[in-house]
Amino acid sequence: MMNERTTDGPATPGRHPDEPPAPATMTAIVHHAYGGADVLTTEEVPTPRPGPGQVQIRVEASSMNVYDLHMITGTPMLVRAVAGWRRPNHHVPGADVAGVVTAVGDDVVRFEPGDRVFGDIGHGAFAPYAVTDEPRIALLPRSVPFEHAAAVPLAGMTALQGLRDIGHLRPGDRVLINGATGGVGTHAVQLARILGASHVTGVCSTAKLDMVRALGADDVIDYTRHDFTEIARGYDLLFDNVGDRPWSQTRRVLTPRGRNVTTTGPKHRWFGPIALLMSRRLRSIPSHQRFTWFTARVRSEDLDTLGALMGTGELSPVIERTFPLAAVPEAFTRLADGHARGKLVITL
Ligand SMILES: NC(=O)c1ccc[n+]([C@@H]2O[C@H](COP(=O)([O-])OP(=O)(O)OC[C@H]3O[C@@H](n4cnc5c(N)ncnc54)[C@H](OP(=O)(O)O)[C@@H]3O)[C@@H](O)[C@H]2O)c1
Repeated sequence: MMNERTTDGPATPGRHPDEPPAPATMTAIVHHAYGGADVLTTEEVPTPRPGPGQVQIRVEASSMNVYDLHMITGTPMLVRAVAGWRRPNHHVPGADVAGVVTAVGDDVVRFEPGDRVFGDIGHGAFAPYAVTDEPRIALLPRSVPFEHAAAVPLAGMTALQGLRDIGHLRPGDRVLINGATGGVGTHAVQLARILGASHVTGVCSTAKLDMVRALGADDVIDYTRHDFTEIARGYDLLFDNVGDRPWSQTRRVLTPRGRNVTTTGPKHRWFGPIALLMSRRLRSIPSHQRFTWFTARVRSEDLDTLGALMGTGELSPVIERTFPLAAVPEAFTRLADGHARGKLVITL
């Protein structure tokens, strides 16, 4: 049983008035097989309906993440353990979402039709309507445009959890961010400042040095000219979005009790970076320095934090370009080249 919004009652702040019910079918981006951009097609599919504890969202914007690339390509093979071995279980990709609640299932307590929301729903966002479990989304402050909100969930939660929860960033810490210009890195530079880092250094390529400074970095290292493991020293926290350097090198940039938190590493065809990252973790154990690899989790309280920071203007996503829904394959190709400038947003 789902509850459609009624038309009576005043519109409250943060809500859209009189959201019409969703149509029976919709035109979505679909893939029935794993592969590159060419497996992504546009298809008419049934509009998903919310079950108990679920929310239906009219999607205003989404964004492309490396996570989506893994789900679309089915690589490394380990992702197929959850996404489907031979073919994808979920045919509409897209994790990040920002939009308006159109209907809620039984037992939904935090949302009602008309609410502006954003979140990380795992799959289904490259479509005009999506359905997700209630804990995967949060209310979006009225002042934040959907295009901005759609750029933040997955990358922002990764940066927030990596710096604050895994990296235990404390006010006054010196923080080095490797891969400072992509989706996660552009959030990490801003959040390191917000969390009270006394000094933030970003590692990036030549054309993006000014952008990283403008995001709040005190210092930048151009990786095309310098090896950060040779010249950077005395950092309390290294937040690494590239992960291509061995522990013996990255530990040199850390204080004697410094932390190296990484989101990624060189990828094995079957297991991705897991085996290598576990061996780095084991090697770090005898010292007081710590290497940790982590995977971000969807937490509504973290979305609330990120939404509030966007609302006050302290956090502002960097958006390289927006693409219409039909151009999702183009956004896929751009992200897959590994040098996006912040986020690639899909608008509907
Ligand atoms: N563990 C998790 O939960 C989690 C969550 C999200 C993402 N991730 C992983 O984190 C990584 C980054 O994600 P993302 O969304 O930020 O990707 P992205 O948007 O593609 O950004 C990657 C960035 O890395 C930079 N880069 C490439 N080679 C570099 C190098 N040698 N040194 C320094 N920077 C370099 C690129 O900037 P230039 O153009 O300046 O080279 C690019 O902007 C991905 O591998 C992704 O799978 C993990």
